Amino acid sequence: MLDINGLNQFYGGSHILWDIDMQVPEGSCTCLMGRNGMGKTTLLKCIMGLLPTASGKLTYGLGAEAMDITKLAADRRAKLGIAYVPQGREIFSQLTVEENLRIGMGSRRGAPIKAIPEHIFEWFPVLKKMMRRRGGDLSGGQQQQLAIGRAMVLDPRLLILDEPAEGIQPNIVHEIGDIIMRLNREARLTVLLVEQKLPFARRVASEFRILDKGRIVSSGLISGLTDDLVHQHLTV
Ligand SMILES: Nc1ncnc2c1ncn2[C@@H]1O[C@H](COP(=O)(O)OP(=O)(O)OP(=O)(O)O)[C@@H](O)[C@H]1O
Ligand SMILES: [Mg+2]
Repeated sequence: MLDINGLNQFYGGSHILWDIDMQVPEGSCTCLMGRNGMGKTTLLKCIMGLLPTASGKLTYGLGAEAMDITKLAADRRAKLGIAYVPQGREIFSQLTVEENLRIGMGSRRGAPIKAIPEHIFEWFPVLKKMMRRRGGDLSGGQQQQLAIGRAMVLDPRLLILDEPAEGIQPNIVHEIGDIIMRLNREARLTVLLVEQKLPFARRVASEFRILDKGRIVSSGLISGLTDDLVHQHLTV
């Protein structure tokens, strides 16, 4: 679904991502892990076209449809079905829930639409109830649902989420995990997720990749995420 080859990225003079080779298989829920500051968000932004890369190739799509997206602008990537839920959610707090949801409509894959698709509210009933409420007045968990709902308006095929469980009450974290699993298994979205919480990753993900100091140091099925790997690369 997504294939990253030889990607390097710099912020000014500092080399942040080193020769990244990484695959996100179709249908997987792939979890990108790593300690703070290792480059996880930077890599997602490179995938989305929000940051320039020094080198590397990004291929997206299936079989004969696979295409080189390395040079495409961010909005073109969205149109191809790549949706992004940023770290910290980035809800517009002064805009209503409805206005936040409508923002995605312009970059939607396929034919333009006038109304927010009804299935968004089947996924997130709470958003229907709160349509007129300002984004900033929602709880953390509701804001996360709004951020995922806004991404779903794009009708994505690949959903990218940066620490969706961050800053959310523990009982709601479980619910967010359920939603991501259902989007992956029932709505058949391929998911790429950054997550540092181990139980969450183990429950939700099918595969893992570990970034350590800007390099991919380990990849595999989530069942292969051993305590040794956790100790070496993830615990602080
Ligand atoms: N705009 C920027 N300019 C310069 N350096 C940056 C910028 N953004 C991030 N960095 C640096 O790049 C490195 C990787 O940051 P990044 O945000 O990708 O890490 P992360 O793995 O997502 O961390 P976290 O788990 O804390 O979210 C860090 O050393 C960070 O300080
Ligand atoms: Mg980050």
